[in-house]
Amino acid sequence: MSIQFYTGIIAGMSKKYLIVPSILGADLTRIGDVVLELENAGIDWIQIDVMDGHFVPNITFGPSFVEAVRRITNLPLDVHLMIQNPDRYLEVFADAGASSLTVHIEACPDVQHTITTIRELGVRVGVAVNPETPVSALTDILSLVDLILVMTVNPGFAGQTFIPSSLSKIQQIHSLLAEIEPRPRIQVDGGITAETAPSAASAGADIFVAASAIFKHPEGIKAGVESIKNSLVGIKAI
Ligand code: DX5
Repeated sequence: MSIQFYTGIIAGMSKKYLIVPSILGADLTRIGDVVLELENAGIDWIQIDVMDGHFVPNITFGPSFVEAVRRITNLPLDVHLMIQNPDRYLEVFADAGASSLTVHIEACPDVQHTITTIRELGVRVGVAVNPETPVSALTDILSLVDLILVMTVNPGFAGQTFIPSSLSKIQQIHSLLAEIEPRPRIQVDGGITAETAPSAASAGADIFVAASAIFKHPEGIKAGVESIKNSLVGIKAI
């Protein structure tokens, strides 16, 4: 991979707040134009939601879609695997161009083995938790990952409403991560808008995934990205 690609990753991880559109919400009939608009809107990563119809009640993209998006952008591709037993597919998604692979702790028979495998593939490691999964499920792996994805909706579809009880969960994880160096980041995903992002940031989140708030914004993609960015100005984790 080119040096600017790696610089992109480093730069991406070092910024305070990252804005990550979930391509699930995009107009897929014009994916090339959409990616260009996203780049021009100054987003940090692109999230690709992979769903298998078993772990979540929806089926979306596979490795070939990741490969296609990889061919049209150097932006980091944040692949969110909402699939049962993801070990079978880690290498194929890494080879397709994923910059990070996030697996669900609920879907991994041996999450530490999965984390090690992702590390060996040379991509960033994320572990996600669903709304009903307690923080205690994460304690053994917090120091092993680059990011924790706190789902703020039940995964499967864009356009759902932010679950307010997620805020205390984010706060708990933020406190636990404070002891870890380098500190993993907290990503939030689901119902993230200019209205909900600030409270998630105050609780300790620093990577914001959004589909509807960006792709369904009445004034277009750039305005959608700006709305979330502007909502975070001056917000600090408590
Ligand atoms: C839900 C996906 C989310 C979703 C976000 O299962 O993981 O990334 O696309 O959509 P919004 O931002 O519309 O809630």
